[in-house]
Amino acid sequence: MTDKPGANIKTGKISVGDKSWSFPVYPGSIGPDVLDIGKFYAETGMFTFDPGFTSTAACESKITYIDGDEGVLLYRGVPIEQLAEHGDFLEACYLLLYGELPTATQKSDFDYRVNRHTMVHEQMSRFFQGFRRDAHPMAVMTGSVGALSAFYHDSTDISDPQQRMIASIRMIAKMPTLAAMAYKYSIGQPFVYPLNHLDYATNFLRMCFAVPAEEYKPNPVLARAMDRIFILHADHEQNASTSTVRLAGSTGANPFACVAAGIAALWGPAHGGANEAALKMLGEIGTVERVPEFVKRAKDKNSGFRLMGFGHRVYKNYDPRAKIMQKTAHEVLNELGHRDDPLLQVALELEKVALHDEYFIEKKLYPNVDFYSGITLKAMGFPTTMFTVLFALARAVGWIAQWKEMIEDPGQRIGRPRQLYTGAPRRDYVPISRRK
Ligand code: SDX
Repeated sequence: MTDKPGANIKTGKISVGDKSWSFPVYPGSIGPDVLDIGKFYAETGMFTFDPGFTSTAACESKITYIDGDEGVLLYRGVPIEQLAEHGDFLEACYLLLYGELPTATQKSDFDYRVNRHTMVHEQMSRFFQGFRRDAHPMAVMTGSVGALSAFYHDSTDISDPQQRMIASIRMIAKMPTLAAMAYKYSIGQPFVYPLNHLDYATNFLRMCFAVPAEEYKPNPVLARAMDRIFILHADHEQNASTSTVRLAGSTGANPFACVAAGIAALWGPAHGGANEAALKMLGEIGTVERVPEFVKRAKDKNSGFRLMGFGHRVYKNYDPRAKIMQKTAHEVLNELGHRDDPLLQVALELEKVALHDEYFIEKKLYPNVDFYSGITLKAMGFPTTMFTVLFALARAVGWIAQWKEMIEDPGQRIGRPRQLYTGAPRRDYVPISRRK
C-alpha cells in the first residue's frame, strides 16, 4: 500500500562498526515515520531485535490511530469521544469497515444487512452442550467462534471482495448471539433468539437477560451504555489480539478461525482479561481505607502485583476511553440506584491516589479502558467471567476490519518473524547407552 520509494522519500542510515547502510523512511499521514528495514537482513546479514514490538510497525493501516502521549484515539480519523457521544456501534462498524461515516441510507442498509445474519445455525446450540456449565465463557467463545469456520468454510472465498464483506457482516451480527448463548448456557437458562426489530445493544441485552417466563422490558439507559461500551472497544490499532488475527490471516486461514485466535489472545489478563482482573482487584481491596496498602504493593517490584486496569503499552497519558467509561459507570450506577457502590468508591480513590503518586507519574501509568468497565458491567448484571466476552464482542469488528485491510493489501505476505538464537551450537546425537 505504501508508495514505493521515490525521489522525495527520506532515507535513514544504520551503522554497525565501520559499515553503514541506508533504508527508506516513509511518512505517516499523522504520527511517527517508519524506517523500512524489509531488506535489512539481505543487506546486513543481521536481524533487528524487538521482542515486544515496542518500536516495530508490523503493517501499514488506515483504520485506527492512537497518540499515546496526547491520549488520542481516532477511528478512520474520527475522535472516539465524538463517536461515543453522537454515534452508535453499527455506525462505528460501518466507519471501520468502509472508511467513511455512512449516509442515512447507507446506515439503514447496513443495519438491515447485519440484522439478517444475527441467528446462528441451529446445530450451534448442540455444540454448546459439549462444554461444562461452569466452563469460562471465553473458552466457550474461542470454541464457538472457531466452530463458525466449519459452517462457513466452503462459502468463504477470501479472494472475493463480496464474500469478505459477507464474512465481516456475519462476524458482527453473530458475536452478540454467541456471547449471549455462552452466558445463558453458564447460568442454565434457555437460549433467547435475536429479535431483529430491536437495536443492536438492546437485542443483545434481551438475549442475555430475557427469560421465557416474563416479558422483557428494555432499559434505554443501559442499552445506550452498552452500545457506547461496544464503540469504545471496537478497535485499537495493532494490539496483541489484532496482531494475532493479522498473523493468522496472513496464511490465508478462514476469517472465523482467525477471529477465534484473536479471542484466545484477548483472554489474557495483560490484555482484554484486565477488566475481569480489575474488578477482582477492586473487590480484594474492598474499602477505601485499604487503597494505600495496594498502591504500596504495586510499587514493590518483588510483590509481583500490578494494579489491573492501569498502564498501557501505548497510552503514556490518560486512555481517552477510560474517561468515557468513568462517565458511563456513573450513568449506569445512577440509573440502577447504586451510586454509592463501594467498588466505585474504591476505584475513584485508587485513581486519585495513583495519579498523585510519584511512581505512577514517573512510569506514566494511568487508568485504561478496563479500569471502569468492570464496575459498569457488574452493575448491569454481568458476572465477571463475561467481561472479556463483551470486549471480544465489540472488538470483533476491529479484528475483521484489520483482517480485511490486510487481505486487500497488494503487498501482503505471510508473516514470518526470525529470532536471536542463543541455544546449543551443532552437536552429534549420543546413543542413550552412552549418556551420563
Ligand atoms: C488492553 O494494546 C492495546 O491497545 C490493548 C488494549 C486494546 O484496546 O486492545 O488497550 C486493551 O489490553 C489494556 C491494558 C489492560 N491491561 C492491564 O490493565 C494489566 C495491567 N497493566 C500492565 O500489565 C501493563 O501496563 C501493560 C501490559 C498494559 C503494558 O505493559 P508494557 O507496555 O509491557 O509495560 P511494562 O510491563 O514494561 O511496564 C512498564 C513499567 C514496569 O516497571 P519497570 O520494569 O520499568 O520498573 O511500569 C510498571 C512495570 O512494572 N507497570 C506497572 C503496571 N503496569 C506497568 N506497575 C504497577 N501496576 C501496573 N498496572
